[in-house]
Amino acid sequence: MTPAVPVARRSKALSAQIGLTDRIFANSEDRRAAASIEDGLAQVEAGLLREVAFADSIADVTSRYLLSAGGKRVRPMLTLLTAQLGRGVVPEVVIAAEAVEITHLASLYHDDVMDEAEKRRGVPTAQAVWGNSVAILTGDLLFARASKLVTSLGDRAMRLQASTFERLVLGQLHETVGPQPGEDEVEHYLQVLRDKTGSLISTAAQLGVVFSAAPSEYEEPVMTFGEKIGVAFQLVDDVLDLSPKAEETGKVAGTDLRAGVPTLPLLHLRRQAIDDPGSAELLARIEQGIETPGSPDLTAAIEALREHPATAVTLDAAHRWAAEAVAALDPLPDGSVKKALIRFADVMVERSS
Ligand code: IPE
Ligand code: IPE
Ligand code: MG
Ligand code: MG
Repeated sequence: MTPAVPVARRSKALSAQIGLTDRIFANSEDRRAAASIEDGLAQVEAGLLREVAFADSIADVTSRYLLSAGGKRVRPMLTLLTAQLGRGVVPEVVIAAEAVEITHLASLYHDDVMDEAEKRRGVPTAQAVWGNSVAILTGDLLFARASKLVTSLGDRAMRLQASTFERLVLGQLHETVGPQPGEDEVEHYLQVLRDKTGSLISTAAQLGVVFSAAPSEYEEPVMTFGEKIGVAFQLVDDVLDLSPKAEETGKVAGTDLRAGVPTLPLLHLRRQAIDDPGSAELLARIEQGIETPGSPDLTAAIEALREHPATAVTLDAAHRWAAEAVAALDPLPDGSVKKALIRFADVMVERSS
């Protein structure tokens, strides 16, 4: 269960991809921001290990389990990045970044129970190891720890944490119950993505501005950026759910589909199936495969969906959301932070893990 790649190396790889550390093109302002973010990530990593430690020996093992299995640390990185608009990586920013990552981590324990996922971050999911109850309770413990952590940041942080968590849970709830009669299923799905994924990424960006004491007029643009890039990120996640490359995704292909989550590629396939016999035949194969656990037919059908225009349409949508995210950054001053956020948006839609 030891992760193949140390956590700190993975998060460093992401900041390198964002290009901040690219010495050929970087000017001295970029390099200062890059060094500050690298330093912040190391502090967050050490803080996370401290914050998820429990005196209880069972809780200690189950809570550290997914943290030490890996993860990209996308959300804390965004907090550290937007903090460069203000005083940089001050202690309050590091605490906010840790709280966001622990909230995300907790949501993964619960999500894997709901999706009956077998793998996460390249290891068996918590409920595959200890069962549903332990996985749910571990998620609860981590939510408690995230809440405790934000109390040191004051009332505003506590309210932001609570309302973000509420939106995230409502997103998961609306995904679970599906669209109501008369509701457009694609519109419903996009609202689910804004809530379950966009909300926390938006707050991650906002917290960097708030706790670095950056000008408050930057809050709105980075929040809009975060929410829109969150939707783009989740749309790419839906496409990665079709990827057979488990060594890259760390997950089992088709987990969403098997759990009955109608991701955007499937929703588009359903639309196209109305008047295209080839699409209708693929849809039937997927639906049949889902009903037969372990079916090799489903593996082949997932592969076919990945190559189907419905998936290309989803990737186009992800690029559109990313472009809108970048457009929201207009009010920010030109410079290292804006440049890095634009690179961040690119990396989020081009990712393969
Ligand atoms: C997975 O998030 C859940 C989604 C909202 C798509 P990440 O892709 O950020 O997961 P880790 O933290 O890198 O494992
Ligand atoms: C996860 O969404 C969203 C949250 C954890 C809030 P998914 O179920 O699509 O993400 P993965 O694919 O399991 O990471
Ligand atoms: Mg899931
Ligand atoms: Mg899910």
